Amino acid sequence: MIRAAVPADGDDPVLVVDRLRKEFPAQSRGGSASVAVDDVSFTLERGGSLAVVGESGSGKTTTARVVAGLERATSGTVTVTSGGRPVVRPVQMVFQDPFASLDPRQRIGSGLTELLRVRCGLGRAAALERTAGLLAEVGLDEQHASRLPRELSGGQRQRVAIARALALRPEILILDEAVAALDVSVQAQVLNLLRGIRERSSVAFLFVSHDLAVVRQVTDHCLVMRHGRVVEQGRTADVLDHPQNPYTQELLDAVPGPGWKPRRRSV
Ligand SMILES: Nc1ncnc2c1ncn2[C@@H]1O[C@H](COP(=O)(O)OP(=O)(O)O)[C@@H](O)[C@H]1O
Ligand SMILES: [Mg+2]
Repeated sequence: MIRAAVPADGDDPVLVVDRLRKEFPAQSRGGSASVAVDDVSFTLERGGSLAVVGESGSGKTTTARVVAGLERATSGTVTVTSGGRPVVRPVQMVFQDPFASLDPRQRIGSGLTELLRVRCGLGRAAALERTAGLLAEVGLDEQHASRLPRELSGGQRQRVAIARALALRPEILILDEAVAALDVSVQAQVLNLLRGIRERSSVAFLFVSHDLAVVRQVTDHCLVMRHGRVVEQGRTADVLDHPQNPYTQELLDAVPGPGWKPRRRSV
């Protein structure tokens, strides 16, 4: 499903998704297959950032999982074009819950060093040096390196998950609701970190989120999904400021704007 391709003149896509469809088999005998992703096409530029937004169940995660190679498409193609630098895994994914991807008994630093040795083939000295570099890149230090996952805060654990993803030098980092479980202030710090990583490297972001305020902060382009289909796509500012599709407007109306105050409900 993931093929190599020659980039077209003028632009430099790192990812081209063409007419992607994903059906899941019927849950019960005689039931019909469910279509999670239906005829989805989009392009992500090298070093670019594309948000995939939509309400729960709209097919965002399934699209991301197919792009990451974790799920097989029913039809359509996913094409990742390498930029010519050494890549261990071209697509890496960071999930909402970093616990799931961390060994609870392994200290953060040694887990990262092991990943670099086993997956990237680095020798011990090089792996240790790169471990320190990656931790620094995500705003952590030796003090965090010696801890177990449960001894870190949620924001720190998500930084570790980002460091582990970057260790494999991906072309594309998929973040699936990666800041959704963090409090607003920690969320802002992790979003700043992601902005910095994008500025310093050529990694492209596929940023899956139901949160339009977050999407506005970190992405240049945006794709709106509903019932597995793309209803609108364009520059994030254009889509969010001048939505063309009534569904996008509905999503925007559901977001509390500036000046919004929680109203006390009478019971
Ligand atoms: N492994 C699966 N088996 C069956 N149905 C699934 C599976 N994964 C997702 N779905 C269905 O596909 C649709 C899209 O889900 P998902 O991609 O998780 O949406 P989102 O991330 O936008 O919330 C939903 O109806 C969901 O129930
Ligand atoms: Mg999801």
